[in-house]
Amino acid sequence: MTDFTFWSPTYFAFGRGAEARTGELVRRFGGRKALLHYGGGSAVASGLIGRIKASLAEAGVEFVELGGVKPNPRSSLIDEGVRLALAEGVDFLLAVGGGSVIDSAKGIAIGAANGGEWRRFYVGREVKVRPAIPAALPVGVVLTIAAAGSEASTNSVVNLEPENLKRAAGGDILRPKFAVMNPELTMTLPPFQTACGLADMFAHLCERYFSPTKDVSLTDNLCEAVMKTVVEESARVMADPNDYQARANIMWAGTLAHNDICGAGRVQDWASHGIEHELSALYDCAHGAGLAVVMPAWMTYVHATDDARFARFARNVFGVGIGESDADAALAGIGAFRRWLKSLGLPLTFVELGAREEDIPLLVKTLNLNGNTLGGFRPLAESDVTAIYRLCL
Ligand code: NZQ
Ligand code: ZN
Repeated sequence: MTDFTFWSPTYFAFGRGAEARTGELVRRFGGRKALLHYGGGSAVASGLIGRIKASLAEAGVEFVELGGVKPNPRSSLIDEGVRLALAEGVDFLLAVGGGSVIDSAKGIAIGAANGGEWRRFYVGREVKVRPAIPAALPVGVVLTIAAAGSEASTNSVVNLEPENLKRAAGGDILRPKFAVMNPELTMTLPPFQTACGLADMFAHLCERYFSPTKDVSLTDNLCEAVMKTVVEESARVMADPNDYQARANIMWAGTLAHNDICGAGRVQDWASHGIEHELSALYDCAHGAGLAVVMPAWMTYVHATDDARFARFARNVFGVGIGESDADAALAGIGAFRRWLKSLGLPLTFVELGAREEDIPLLVKTLNLNGNTLGGFRPLAESDVTAIYRLCL
């Protein structure tokens, strides 16, 4: 195991009706005037925003609102949010939605606490060390989709305009103060979005599980347990979107997959995420759908680096490859993973995603490795990344 620091201060209010506590929680974490931030319509249509406003009013929390966050959140709305937050003297960011809304709120939280400056903290693979974020307003979350894990993560991923670059900021300061998690709120998700969320949380576990670090049995076992849960519960939720227990297990799995409890003390990979982010930047596709295309291709390209690890994944997560050589089991595991993604109705190829072969050089260019390598399991150069995109065809 490697040395680590782990600081995960998020307060979770989990269960039916938990959103009624939102106002109380904003106050508990110091908010007197909140910016209520939400997406393109689902939270308004479901009546959730109305209930949140009532909860804020009941707790005596003033608020201004800014809706309209798009999936793959845009920098222009963050700029608007920062202006609004500064003009209104907002002291708290309340995000009601999924990863896109939360990440947009985190961007506004940075800008509002740094005199409007936020963009320079969002960087790509061209830098080795991310710039430290000196200050950020506190962020609270009411989660409506189990997927990105931003409700407890250190990251914010946004689409920088006009260059159309998907870039990330990170630091413990971005961990939300609280996350309200009512699994019932996720029952209105279209099956495709549910599936994208499942793929994303599974990918967050893979990014940690496929590690060169030895003697990490605790986090190996944690990763496998959460992966198995995601696969098992995925069948239940796809069969019955209103299955509360399946939704609940999936929702908590999404948080555990990415708050880093499964990744502490080990080198992590994150190549697939880097490769995917270029797809969702260029094509505006769902992040989880892009991962469904990229992850199996990445696995196919790198498994020989450590077939024993891939064989363990095959046997312990998907129950395949038992009694086979590690090399055969590794391939069986990748095959089972692909079949699982397909069973969820996710794309597996560039064509199914709406991506184009002729854009591969552009995707590699905008990834901008700048001479650095990508990934902790098997460091990848630009030529490797090109080969992985080609395996997605
Ligand atoms: O905008 P509305 O109308 O709300 O619709 C959203 C959106 O179209 C819809 N939706 C959300 N909750 C719903 C619902 N529809 C019906 N009922 C509900 N209860 O779902 C769509 C997708 O929402 P989005 O927030 O984009 O999904 P997700 O949580 O998957 O977030 C994806 C974003 O997070 C980033 C991704 O790159 C992507 O931009 N990530 C953030 C991470 C982080 N901050 O730690 C890590 C991840 O790896 C990821 O990169
Ligand atoms: Zn992700």
